[in-house]
Amino acid sequence: MSTQHILMDLKQWFNDYVRSFSSDDLVIRQNMDLKAGHTRRVCEAIVDIGMTLNLSEEDLGIAEISALLHDIGRFEQYLKYRTFSDQRSENHAEIGVKVLKENHVLNSLNPDTADIIIKAVKFHNRASLPEGEGERCLFFLKLLRDADKLDIWHVVTEYYRNKDNERNHALELDLPDTEEISEPIYNSLIHGRLARTADLRTLNDFKLLQIGWIYDLNFSRTFQIVRDNGYLETIRDVLPSRSSRVKEIYELARAHLERNCPGQGCSR
Ligand SMILES: [Fe+2]
Repeated sequence: MSTQHILMDLKQWFNDYVRSFSSDDLVIRQNMDLKAGHTRRVCEAIVDIGMTLNLSEEDLGIAEISALLHDIGRFEQYLKYRTFSDQRSENHAEIGVKVLKENHVLNSLNPDTADIIIKAVKFHNRASLPEGEGERCLFFLKLLRDADKLDIWHVVTEYYRNKDNERNHALELDLPDTEEISEPIYNSLIHGRLARTADLRTLNDFKLLQIGWIYDLNFSRTFQIVRDNGYLETIRDVLPSRSSRVKEIYELARAHLERNCPGQGCSR
């Protein structure tokens, strides 16, 4: 069976799996829908990026399968712990690998491809790329990490734009919405490094961490999408406007974006 055919079957499996979590509770339903929608859009984003790299049908299929399954652990995580915070529950990537193995989801893929998918799921949320993995595995992992970030930016910026909506505590990782910006978060970002989830203390920290994802992108197409959608600006606009730290972090991130945009004339 071709990878594209297996992808079709896996989409069916994914839909059935998600349906098994349906609930009468509105909040549960909202959060399940949030992750199902996220998955759908990460699939679209990974194909978009993959096309700009002229990937074969086979490799596009592998990339899309990794996107389809990367957050499969989110459903069990939310049902069990009622949070998407890995800190407060379990690492959702590890739950995902367990779910895939328990349900023999990857059995129809050849072992090498199955291994790439497992590793992509397992490492997609790590602070940095793992050491000692082969080039092909790292390539798919980079694709997934870029596509995943693009949609998290999409989701959070939509949410920040509609501030009047009710707050979604799961999306805010249950962090308090106070003024502070934590020192370790500021320090990482000001050195052009990703901030660590373990250092998050406030919602502002989390927003800044989201700006800092720009330092973990791998493909020009991804930078271009971030620029075209004004994700960095939208997040900056919901941070304290008088804070010089916010300004510093934003300017640095913006400069990194400009440097990595394809071609000339990247200003907006
Ligand atoms: Fe994701």
